[in-house]
Amino acid sequence: MNPKIKALADEVNAAVATTQEELEAYRMRFISRKNVIADLFAEMKNVPNEEKKAFGQEVNELKQLAQDKFKALIEGLKSNDGENTAPVDLTLPPALSVFGSLHPLTATRQRFIQIFERIGFNVSSGPEIEDDWHNFTALNFPENHPAREMQDTFFIEKNPDIALRTHTSSVQIRVMETEEPPIRTLSPGRVFRNEAISARAHCIFHQMEGLYVDENVSFADLKQTLYHFVKEMFEKETKIRFRPSYFPFTEPSAEIDISCQICHGDGCNICKHTGWVEIGGSGMVDPNVLENCGIDSKKYTGFAFGMGIERIAMLRYGIKDLRLFTENDLRFLSQFKTI
Ligand code: DAH
Repeated sequence: MNPKIKALADEVNAAVATTQEELEAYRMRFISRKNVIADLFAEMKNVPNEEKKAFGQEVNELKQLAQDKFKALIEGLKSNDGENTAPVDLTLPPALSVFGSLHPLTATRQRFIQIFERIGFNVSSGPEIEDDWHNFTALNFPENHPAREMQDTFFIEKNPDIALRTHTSSVQIRVMETEEPPIRTLSPGRVFRNEAISARAHCIFHQMEGLYVDENVSFADLKQTLYHFVKEMFEKETKIRFRPSYFPFTEPSAEIDISCQICHGDGCNICKHTGWVEIGGSGMVDPNVLENCGIDSKKYTGFAFGMGIERIAMLRYGIKDLRLFTENDLRFLSQFKTI
């Protein structure tokens, strides 16, 4: 007998199945469509002509043997059911269930909202496919302004322009068009830009927009609110600084930096050895933007900010590569289990 066939026949003879799993393992190995016996049939073409007949016969016998054994294993398992099984001990503790966990971006978004809800902000949302007015024009981007190019937009239609929104600032407009001040709102959501994927950039990412419009809202309110936010988000004294900047929809505008949570000022790659990391932009809502939405800019002022949720999560958890958020690797995700 061919030694390979002999070894498989011995294996079939010795097989036992006391559980459904063992039965299934046997079925996969000897019965399923792609099983080891089928492999032998496929090998037939390599067998010398004079041995073909005997080989074929032996494989057929092995196949029969494997099928008979399979029936016997099924019968054996059936008759075991209910007879030999030990009585169930109801006093034993239950088997532990494996819990999933929140994605670190979800957890960070929820924490963000929690912090701002406690100081009177609600949550609003807008569409991911946005028109030119809400994404650009109402936000004071003049026609042909280089900032429109700067955003590297994914356009869906041109003239009139429809695009995947490049920032959540579009939701500011939607809220101000439909609500009267006082407005205190947060708008979380996905945004899209034509960027190559790397450790620091992605063509899809998440932002959190904040908007506060009322009488007498000042830059001091903006600073104090964001200072409160970073202290709460990072759960320790975190330094914050405002760097003068430019956005068409705010005047004055400032970039928000916080002290690096990874190296705490010693200098590392994340903060590019400066000790500071940018988490977003902010500023006083430009009076033109208020007027574009029908809000009286003589009576009302406001502040706004937009932050990258990925960036906040990276600093919060010490994550050094943005791609980890979207790879769905359980070795990464299960590190954020809270139970
Ligand atoms: N929309 C800006 C961006 O995506 C971020 C931003 C800056 C939002 C200043 C604001 C703001 O609300 O006031 O880069």
